[in-house]
Amino acid sequence: MFSKKKNKNSKVFSANKMLLTANSSFSIQESFKTLRTNVTFSLPGKKNRCIGIVSANRGEGKSTVAVNLAISLAQIDKKVVIIDCDMRIPTVASKLGMENRPGLSDYLADEEGYKHLPVIRNDKFNIDVIPAGTIPPDPTKLIESPQMSELIEALKNVYDYIIVDFPPICVVSDAAILSSVIDGYLIVTLHASTETSQLDETIRQLRFANANVLGFLYNSKPSSRKSYKKNSKYYYYYEYR
Ligand SMILES: Nc1ncnc2c1ncn2[C@@H]1O[C@H](COP(=O)(O)OP(=O)(O)OP(=O)(O)O)[C@@H](O)[C@H]1O
Ligand SMILES: [Mg+2]
Repeated sequence: MFSKKKNKNSKVFSANKMLLTANSSFSIQESFKTLRTNVTFSLPGKKNRCIGIVSANRGEGKSTVAVNLAISLAQIDKKVVIIDCDMRIPTVASKLGMENRPGLSDYLADEEGYKHLPVIRNDKFNIDVIPAGTIPPDPTKLIESPQMSELIEALKNVYDYIIVDFPPICVVSDAAILSSVIDGYLIVTLHASTETSQLDETIRQLRFANANVLGFLYNSKPSSRKSYKKNSKYYYYYEYR
């Protein structure tokens, strides 16, 4: 079912400053250690966990958190795969300096004979990556397909952690659709941006789908370069509640 490919682009890693590395600031390293610990303890008794990363709107930091949580778990020798389920505006592969296709959509649509799911190894961060793939006409239909849930169940037999990066809940319902196979959702909120009503709507939709909400992650990404310089101590600051 899975085909594992080496990342041909291992040399094209752009120095994405948002990725968690040994050179990341103390605060970002500590934030992700805390997040990792909280995620690990919030699902006691479960061995193979699938974590969905969601937020209300676009640009609140979901994909950055998803990638860094995956990296952080790999740093303690967990076997991790990250799936880019935002097939409309995929960014996971590009954040990691990898190609976005073929990927999940090509496998689920099975259009060009992608019988094998492209699982791409990222040696730099010691994680496996399932890119979003070719942008499909109806991503929600693919998310709803039985193959998608079966895929996550099958990955649970192989990985300690499956991290799923979703599109925003107030835009499309994709994240809630998979609630029966996602063990827990992390809701990312962005400082001075996420409105209470949007957060309420996000929680409402997840509750309606009987989803298990693990917690909230407060991202205080600076709203402008000026504020970054002025409040540089808040840069890359995450908090898990
Ligand atoms: N804490 C932070 N500090 C500085 N920049 C950040 C922070 N978090 C995210 N960013 C930047 O903000 C932008 C949006 O982040 P990201 O792609 O993670 O958001 P997203 O919620 O996945 O967006 P979308 O809904 O469009 O997929 C990116 O350029 C990312 O590098
Ligand atoms: Mg994203």
